[in-house]
Parts: sequence; C-alpha cells; structure tokens
Amino acid sequence: MALDQFRDDLEATAAALAAPGSGLLAADESTGTIGKRFAAIDLENNEANRRAYRSLLASCDGLEQHISGVILYEETLVQTSVNADGSDGPPIVQLFRERGIVPGIKVDLGVEPLAGGLAGETWCTGLRGLAERAARYYEQGARFAKWRAVLRISGDGCPSELAVRENAWGLARYARTVQEQGLVPIVEPEILMDGDHDIATTASVQEWVLRTVYEALGLNGVHLEGSLLKPSMTTAGADCPQQPSADEVGEFTVRTLSRTVPAAVPAILFLSGGLSEEDASLCLNAINGAAALGAAPWHLGFSFGRALQHSCLKHWGGHDRSAGQAALLARARANGAASRGAYTAGSEPSDDSSLFVANYSY
Ligand code: 13P
Repeated sequence: MALDQFRDDLEATAAALAAPGSGLLAADESTGTIGKRFAAIDLENNEANRRAYRSLLASCDGLEQHISGVILYEETLVQTSVNADGSDGPPIVQLFRERGIVPGIKVDLGVEPLAGGLAGETWCTGLRGLAERAARYYEQGARFAKWRAVLRISGDGCPSELAVRENAWGLARYARTVQEQGLVPIVEPEILMDGDHDIATTASVQEWVLRTVYEALGLNGVHLEGSLLKPSMTTAGADCPQQPSADEVGEFTVRTLSRTVPAAVPAILFLSGGLSEEDASLCLNAINGAAALGAAPWHLGFSFGRALQHSCLKHWGGHDRSAGQAALLARARANGAASRGAYTAGSEPSDDSSLFVANYSY
C-alpha cells in the first residue's frame, strides 16, 4: 500500500511538529487574504512585499525555539528570500529548514457554497489532482499539509448534518491522499466564532463535528499517529453576551477533545480564530492547565495565524524588519510557554485589538 512506505516518516514528522513547548506559525494566507493584512498597514499587495514579509519570518533568529513548523502558501514554497539589504538570499523554505522548522503547505483550494446546505454553508475544494500536487510539494520540501474546512453555528439550524458530513468526508479524503504522498495532514475543522451562541452550544456542536471527522478518518484508513488536529478552541460566539473566562475555555475545550479525539493523535494545534493575541495565549495556557489535571494524551500547542502575526505586521509596517521580528518572537515565546501551561498574563508585549473578522476566509 502506498501509505505503508511512509508510516514511519509520517510519525517522525508529526512527532517533530509536536515538540514540547512549541507550535506552528500559520503563514499560509492566500494572496487575497495577505492583501487584507497589508491593507491594514497601508502596504500594496504585490509580489515584492509578500516576499519581503515572508523573508522576515524565515530569517527570524530564535524562532525555532518556539516554532516547530510553518504553514506556507504555494507562492512562498518556491520563492527566493530577500536579505535585509535588498539582495537575493536563499530560498525561503531553505531558511526555515536550516533552523529546523519543518515547512508545510496549504493544499485546499478554498470553500464554495454547499448546494443543498443552509444559507452560508460551504464545502472545501481541492481534491481533484491533490495526489499530484502533494507529490510535487514533497519534492519542493514540504513535509506536512493543511486543509481548512469551515462550519458555522446559527440559531436557524447551522451546521446542517449535510455540512458536517461533507466537511468531515473532505477532510478524511484529503488526509488519506496526502499521507500516501508522504505529507502529514493537519485536519482543520474550524467552527467559526461568528454568532451569539454560548460556550455550551459550541461544545455540543464541536463534539458532533469531531466525532464525525474521526469516524470518516477511520473509514478512509488515515494513519492517526501520522496526523495532527487543528481545531478551534471551545468558546462562545463572538456576539454572545456571556463571554467565558480563559479557565472556562480551558475546561470546555479539554472536555470536548477528550470525548472525541483518539489518543493515537500526537498533537492538537489550535487555530486562533479571531481571538486577540493575548487572549489566544491565555486560553491556550488554560487549556494546558485543564489538560494537566486529567493527564491528556496529546501535546496541546498552537498553529496560529493572526495571533502570531498581528503585531509583527504592525511593527514591520513594510520596512522595519527587526521590529517585526521582535514582535513575532514575543508572541512565539508567549505561546511556547502557554503550550506548557507556563505563560504569565501580560509577560510578553502584544497588541490587544480584537482580530475577529466576521465570516473569515483564509
Ligand atoms: P488563525 O490563527 O488566524 O485563525 O489562522 C490559522 C489558520 O491557519 C486558519 O486556517
């Protein structure tokens, strides 16, 4: 079987990504999404600026102490870096690899409206030709992949059973396909923070979603020891009047995961989903605190996009590389500590603005 030749490598890669006190930098914004980030700092979304920004990330000394892997967008996987003085540097992937940071790649092709679903529901595209693309990404240095399926909670019936099953099945087909090409799949069933539902509602929906996802992964013969889960934290909708404390998020999240995620999965790496930088770190810290009480079987780390890059982008502002790197390192340190349950609130600088964007697409 194609998968058998890769089982040991997949497990080794997953274990490297699950290193204690570390997590992933999700820098896989599509060209459209990075444009929104650049617009916030008044920067044009062109190839030179994207290259300069991703070169900043890849040349950040010390990042490897807290970051085990980086998720890239296809453009970055084949891009040469630019040095601080403007001269050409080595490939961006090489810079990450030299530091021991494993490169990964976003392989889904985005979401589309789900025919037969409820208003606003989506399915995730990208299965056609995926095996060939995954093989090419492996050749180009990627060792893991990401596929983001999106579900929403609403008072009028979302998520529908159709949306839950379709998105779980897509994640499972993707995971099996990329494992056969040697890439560790990050399975990402994101439940958006949009809505006014309370944390108990999120917990029951998320249990249903994760149960369905692992059933589909089992049916597809996904090698769980060589896979990772990237869920949202179990929290209330952004418009819920009763916002939970970080400790409540920790307790609900660990309860949800312990009811649904097999112990064979080496690590659960949370997305930040629109939480502010500091809140994301505090919630991750509380999750690890709650997990320690029940001796959770998995490494509980992070795979943050917005919550790792927001102040970095602001401090960089298109030109100040070292200020951007200092801000990035501060949040990487904070989240590395939070992955051990050892983060002290406010001990690292952050930008406390809410990063929530309604109906966010990546
Ligand atoms: P956020 O941490 O900004 O939610 O993004 C993580 C990610 O990779 C979403 O797919």
